[in-house]
Amino acid sequence: MRSITEQGHIFEEWLTPEQIAADIQPLADRINEDYKDKSLLFVVVLNGAFIFASDLIRRVNLRSKVTFIRVKSYEGMNSAGEVKMIVPLQQSVKDRDVIIVEDIVDTGLTMHWLKAHLREQGAASVRVAALLCKPDKLQYPDAAPDYVARRISNEFVIGYGLDLDGFARNLDAIYKIKE
Ligand code: IMP
Ligand code: MG
Repeated sequence: MRSITEQGHIFEEWLTPEQIAADIQPLADRINEDYKDKSLLFVVVLNGAFIFASDLIRRVNLRSKVTFIRVKSYEGMNSAGEVKMIVPLQQSVKDRDVIIVEDIVDTGLTMHWLKAHLREQGAASVRVAALLCKPDKLQYPDAAPDYVARRISNEFVIGYGLDLDGFARNLDAIYKIKE
C-alpha cells in the first residue's frame, strides 16, 4: 500500500485509480437513465471537483453544457463555517436541469448554500453528484448528494482533486489520513 506525507501527516492509499473509475461508472449510468431525453447543465465546484468532473462528465452521453463556480468553505482540515464565492457562475442556470458536481460533502454547508443560490437564479431542478460523502458530519439534510460513490466516516482524505491546503490534488489515488 502506498503512503505519503503531507504537512507532517501520514496518509495511506485508500482508493486506487482503478477503484475510483469503477465507482464512477454506476453514477454516470444512473444519470444517463434519470435524465434520458433531457439536456443537462453541470455546475462543477472548483477547485476540488475538477478531476472527478472530467471523469464523470465524459461518461455521461446526454446533451449537456458544463460550467464552473468557485467557492471556499474549508481551512486546513476543518470547515470554516461560512461559504465564500471566489468565482461566480458565468452561465445562466435559468430553467435548466442542473447537476452540481462536487468532490466531497462534509457538513453539507457548501451544497446547502449552492443549491439555494442556483434555485434563486431560476434553475428548474438541482441535484448533487459527489464522489464522497461523510454522513456522520452532515448538518444540512438537504445537502445529502443524490448521486454518491462512497460514504466515509469522519476521516480526512486527499488526492484525485482533494487537497490539504492546496497540495496533493494531483495524486492519482485517494489517500486517507493515518490516525
Ligand atoms: P462542507 O461545506 O462542510 O460540506 O465541505 C465541503 C468542502 O470541504 C468540499 O468541497 C471540500 O473542498 C472540503 N473537504 C471536506 N472534507 C474534505 C476532506 O476530507 N479532504 C479534502 N477536502 C475536504
Ligand atoms: Mg470543494
